[in-house]
Amino acid sequence: MGPPGAGKGTQAKRLVEAFGMTHLSSGDIFRAEKASGSARGKKLAEYMDAGALVPDEVVVSMMADAITRANSQAGLMLDGFPRTTAQAQALDKQLVAAKAPLDAVVVITAPSEAIVERITGRRVCSCGQAYHGKFLPPKKAGVCDACGSALSQRADDTEKVVRDRLTAYNRQTEPVIAYYRACGRVRMIEVDGAKAPDAVTADLMRALKGA
Ligand code: AP5
Repeated sequence: MGPPGAGKGTQAKRLVEAFGMTHLSSGDIFRAEKASGSARGKKLAEYMDAGALVPDEVVVSMMADAITRANSQAGLMLDGFPRTTAQAQALDKQLVAAKAPLDAVVVITAPSEAIVERITGRRVCSCGQAYHGKFLPPKKAGVCDACGSALSQRADDTEKVVRDRLTAYNRQTEPVIAYYRACGRVRMIEVDGAKAPDAVTADLMRALKGA
């Protein structure tokens, strides 16, 4: 968990490589549906392009399917889900039914003033890698190091939309952190996402190995 631009996707990719889990990013799943041009994708785009959260019933149904399909023996790294208390409650029910415990909730913090610069400078590849012109540049400008494809900018990575995403995070997602703290059954790990990417990875690895 963490605000837009905290580094959730960047760190999740590094951690799944290290631990062998399956990475399930709700944002990536919704963008793939959007790109398919389906009626559901068009509906998702209305919310995503405005920086608003997609309604809970749509999110819960799509993520429940993705979790069931992933069926990973090595575990799942959920990125961007749950994002409301209703989503967290639905996930709890699914995990109890599957006898699959939630091992840890990882919160990456980031100062609001860093978020706009990170998000507006982000360039992404269709293979899932993300770069930043200043903070995480690709070896060759505009080209993905991993697969050689051209990089592009996400439709919602504008200054106006990121401010709306941040407002949605503060209002609807921060209470989920309190929900997990109050339940007392889950290990909470908080890392300082203001550090450089490699330092954040090192902090996360240390914390997760002790989880
Ligand atoms: P989603 O795709 O999940 O977007 P987000 O939460 O806003 O997060 P981001 O992907 O923007 O940021 P990140 O934390 O992954 O940062 P990254 O590592 O890329 O969701 C998009 C939309 O889908 C939502 O707005 C909503 O509409 C919908 N949605 C998704 N899930 C939903 C749900 N559960 N319920 C309802 N709606 C949902 O890093 C950002 C940039 O910073 C990169 O350029 C990176 O290179 C750079 N960077 C990373 N780490 C550092 C660092 N330590 N220092 C400097 N730069 C860094």
